[in-house]
Amino acid sequence: MTSNAKAALIDSLNGLLADAFSLYIKTKNFHWHVRGPQFHDLHLLFDTQATEIFALTDLIAERVRKQGGATLTSPAAIAAKTQIKAQDDNSIDAMAMVKELAQDNNTFIAKLREVKAAAEEAGDNATDGIVDDWTDQAEQRAWFLREIMG
Ligand SMILES: [Fe+2]
Repeated sequence: MTSNAKAALIDSLNGLLADAFSLYIKTKNFHWHVRGPQFHDLHLLFDTQATEIFALTDLIAERVRKQGGATLTSPAAIAAKTQIKAQDDNSIDAMAMVKELAQDNNTFIAKLREVKAAAEEAGDNATDGIVDDWTDQAEQRAWFLREIMG
């Protein structure tokens, strides 16, 4: 393994971690603010998805440490690295929330693909394997959200 490949993997994992924190808080934001006839179902679904995403954060950060890298330290560090756009308008309608989260989970899936390629390049078999489970979870979230949109 080259040190370049390892540095690229660490950077990629830190990007994934930033996206996981951002997607977590955005999903919670929608859990808190969703309104309308589907309130009950969406309030519960967003909470389930947020819990699943939050559980990833520790696993991702510890993959970085196991590779000898330093990981994220603050909200500012997360903001600097994430690709997930904040949504601070808490009045958007329920279907707009579902649509945004579906797109954000697709962005997350693309990032997972990048991490997997970097793990293969660096010869990190453990990350390579666990990313498949994280991808399946993200695809399930995206699928549920798509089905709600009809
Ligand atoms: Fe809650």
